[in-house]
Amino acid sequence: MSHEESLILAETDGHVGIIRLNRPKVLNALNPELMAALAAQMETYDKDPGIYVIVLSGSEKAWAAGADIGDMAEQSVVSMYERDQFATWERIKRVKKPIVAAVSGWCLGGGCELMMHCDVVIASETAQFGQPEINIGVMPGAGGTQRLPRALGKALAMDVILSGRFLSAQEALDHGLVSRVVPKEHFFAEAVKVAHAIASKGPIALRFAKEGVLKAFETPLSEGLEFERKLFYMLFATEDQKEGMRAFVEKRKPTFKGK
Ligand code: CAA
Repeated sequence: MSHEESLILAETDGHVGIIRLNRPKVLNALNPELMAALAAQMETYDKDPGIYVIVLSGSEKAWAAGADIGDMAEQSVVSMYERDQFATWERIKRVKKPIVAAVSGWCLGGGCELMMHCDVVIASETAQFGQPEINIGVMPGAGGTQRLPRALGKALAMDVILSGRFLSAQEALDHGLVSRVVPKEHFFAEAVKVAHAIASKGPIALRFAKEGVLKAFETPLSEGLEFERKLFYMLFATEDQKEGMRAFVEKRKPTFKGK
């Protein structure tokens, strides 16, 4: 298959696995085939012991302008139910390794929801965020009504979802939807740099830390704290904990092995 035809492009850079969405003609609209390819590549990286962090990117023009409207236009409730398109999203949700999103341009609908499946979000100053499903007679279906209010709070999430208006990169940063905003020329390089910085840490501690943060959205505080404590204690069974703490005491850089 040529680059033109591949729905995603994958490459590795040291311990970082990079995936780019590749449907430029439709602003990376997410059809079921693309989502299946994306989930499969994410799982491949998740299982690869040489990959510690995943970078997910679109193009400079579009991260993704949403689920593919052409693909959904003539579906019925039964066909939507039977094809169960969100099962692939569940697979992405289960990825244990940190995912750094490199977002530029349109980040809308399912695109915004995909971004919210990632862990650290590096946004270009040109990025625009929104859930405009309301304009086409539907509503968010891949987590927008649940994850957006957790990030933005109820009033702003309602505004975005009910009016269909877009947020600028700066607004997204001010309200905690993204991690950092950078000049448009650097959004991808900066995301890869951040991914390498994260990949220099202990891989097991990284995965546990991600699991701990995600648990905060699922449990009451006391249960989350108990869960965190158990993960923290478990890290004392790893060689990386010994190496990290000894290196600090010996005033040298640690070398983590993921063991
Ligand atoms: N699905 C399918 N095709 C799409 C698309 C989408 N979500 N978004 C853009 N495209 C296509 C356009 O149809 C157009 O194709 P043609 O060249 O063949 O006409 C091409 O991409 C370029 O788009 P525009 O000409 O519209 O570009 P623009 O710069 O004028 O506008 C835009 C950009 C504001 C993003 C506009 O394309 C737009 O509003 N897109 C739809 C956004 C949207 O409603 N997303 C939500 C989808 S539903 C969803 O995501 C459900 C869910 O929760 C899972």
